[in-house]
Amino acid sequence: MEKKYWEKIAPNYETEIFDVLKNDISGKIVKSILSFANKKKSVIDIGCAVGKWMPVLSPNFGKVQAIDISAKNLKIAAQKYKDLQNINYQRVDMSASKVPAVKYDAAICINAILTAHLNKRNLFFKHMASFIKKGGDLVLVVPSLESKLFSHIVANKYNVDNAKKDKAPTGKRAIEQIRYIKDGVTDIDDVPTKHFLKEELTLLLEMEGFKVLEIEKIKYDWTTEFHKPPTWLKNPKPWDWLVVAKKK
Ligand SMILES: C[S@@+](CC[C@H](N)C(=O)[O-])C[C@H]1O[C@@H](n2cnc3c(N)ncnc32)[C@H](O)[C@@H]1O
Repeated sequence: MEKKYWEKIAPNYETEIFDVLKNDISGKIVKSILSFANKKKSVIDIGCAVGKWMPVLSPNFGKVQAIDISAKNLKIAAQKYKDLQNINYQRVDMSASKVPAVKYDAAICINAILTAHLNKRNLFFKHMASFIKKGGDLVLVVPSLESKLFSHIVANKYNVDNAKKDKAPTGKRAIEQIRYIKDGVTDIDDVPTKHFLKEELTLLLEMEGFKVLEIEKIKYDWTTEFHKPPTWLKNPKPWDWLVVAKKK
């Protein structure tokens, strides 16, 4: 999931990319953001894409910095939310060796740490920490590896969406998939995407100087995983991880 991919997706972003804000019917993410929001504070939205979170951030913080690797996404966001005056849009690659040395009171990063490459993720986490002031807050949402494996297990056991007819990969692709899954990387719409374990997130964030306050599930409908989920399939539902953390 690199710059080229995100630039290509940008014009069709609304139909191609899962909308976390819309699908979080529990409202837990918004509630977590509002728990520390303040008009005197600044906030950075890391991987803001087309700006879905701007209507949540702009009225509740003094200044909003919206960054993304995709110039096209930023242009769409700036156009869509041109009436929101306290937002500054900037193209920043969180996996570059350097990012601007600026600190904010808070940060949100919603399903943006997705790259399959460990070195790029390491830089992403490091830069994310560097953007937050001591005592500042972070709301992070990432795909859950537990949820992804659970969905696969359910699909295979109960033949959901004819899963039993899926051909197992062979040759180079099979070797690649084994190597990837050991690192928590598995496909979303045929794109290798990093998924995280709860324990992994705790360790990663502690190592980057955060105190993890909460790790919770953001639960979604089964239609987000399957074309035709069986009517009996209710709970547990698939989920992303929501992490609320404080910079030490
Ligand atoms: C799935 S979208 C999520 C967008 C948004 N946070 C939301 O919840 O609607 C992921 C976004 O992360 C951005 N992104 C991916 N890698 C990035 C990087 N290295 N630096 C900055 N942004 C990145 C992509 O361009 C894309 O807009």
